[in-house]
Amino acid sequence: MVKKTFYITTAIDYPSGKPHLGHAYEKICADVLARWHRLRGEDVFFLTGTDEHGKKIQTKAKESGLTPKQYVDQMVKSFKELCKELNISHDRFIRTTDKDHEKVSQMLFENAYKKGEIYKGFYEGKYCVDCETYYTDRELENGCCPVHQKEVETLKEESYFFKMGKYEKQIIDFHKKSKVSILPLFRKNEIQNRLRGGLIDLSVSRTSFKWGIPVPFDKKHVIYVWFDALINYLSGINYPKKEYEKYWDNVIHIIGKDILWHHTAIWDSILLSAGIKPTKTVFAHGFINIAGEKMSKSRGTVVDPLELTKKYGTDTLRYFFMREIPFGDDGNFSEEALVNRHNNELANDLGNLLNRTTNMINKYFKGQVPKGKNELINKLEFEKIDTAIEDLDINSALSDIWKFINQCNKYINDAKPWELANKDEKRLSLVLRLVNN
Ligand code: MSP
Repeated sequence: MVKKTFYITTAIDYPSGKPHLGHAYEKICADVLARWHRLRGEDVFFLTGTDEHGKKIQTKAKESGLTPKQYVDQMVKSFKELCKELNISHDRFIRTTDKDHEKVSQMLFENAYKKGEIYKGFYEGKYCVDCETYYTDRELENGCCPVHQKEVETLKEESYFFKMGKYEKQIIDFHKKSKVSILPLFRKNEIQNRLRGGLIDLSVSRTSFKWGIPVPFDKKHVIYVWFDALINYLSGINYPKKEYEKYWDNVIHIIGKDILWHHTAIWDSILLSAGIKPTKTVFAHGFINIAGEKMSKSRGTVVDPLELTKKYGTDTLRYFFMREIPFGDDGNFSEEALVNRHNNELANDLGNLLNRTTNMINKYFKGQVPKGKNELINKLEFEKIDTAIEDLDINSALSDIWKFINQCNKYINDAKPWELANKDEKRLSLVLRLVNN
């Protein structure tokens, strides 16, 4: 039987600084979904990685006295270490400096050029280096980048343009027809409104710096970092080899809300231009804040996820994120909340249940779970939980799992198996059977 496929990706991170809690959160969300679909027997491909080109990286490398490639080679280590420490089960860690990725990016760029969908022009505009994105005056907030609230630079350069405007209607229609193309649904309207009349041709090459994939037919230019980066979702599954199709049909991109526009407008246009259908689902998660505010280097509120896993353990961090934050919403991180969930839920509810039942099984039944039917397990609402995860509602799946754990605890408190030892062997074996599967 042909297995159902499930292709899940995270955004690829800029390795211009150390990985932070937002990077960790996104990888954990995607990993939880990947593992769940694998457990259901599906053919899963999970892609994550790093986005290594662009002006910001070039500048950072120069400040460190390294070449850009030396710089990213060094920085990427901590992103790989993060994946290892968080127990991320990705199938490939893609780097946009990987040769196969560079080739696919150049190929798609050249194909669009040959089709007449990329043309040479001249660009002048407001650019935020941190986002590697040009903004129109309408998009700026008090003249600043809407994401970083920092002053933007005025850049002027010869550039190739991609006829993105051409795809406006097709993209709007695609999102109108599909119920799952942009999730959570409340984000969809925002994108549809912005798409209407907002899809103008995009500047997709740069000459003002060198660190990028060269435009194959004009080496003075490098490919715009977003055009190159988005293509990782195809090169990561061996596009253009036919085998990519089985995964592409069931793709979901897990990304942050700040880059939803890039993953709908720009990415859909690139795909349509290449004759590929738009992404089935783009899910935009919220932001992790510290005390209600964005993490900030200057306020010293950037949290290092590696330090947290060393201090509290990987599973505690993974559990905390999934339980604390409804998937799709912003959420707060505090060590205090993490410690509370660790103590009350993981150690007390789950840990105690496991500990006391396995201890009694060791003590009274030589470590062998008594045989017989287990009716308590029927209280675990498995189908409901399965549907919740299918619907990307990880948070409510976890509350249902916890409801069951609490039912088990209540059962054992009421049944008091420790009082049954030497009095009622039959009942003792039944009780301990029920809380061990
Ligand atoms: N390189 C681009 C993505 C290209 S995808 C083809 C980028 N990189 S990033 O390093 O800035 O962000 C990587 C991911 O982390 C994005 O999905 C972003 O939304 C997410 N987060 C960054 N800060 C975050 C929080 N504070 N909270 C949660 N996620 C956030 O954008």
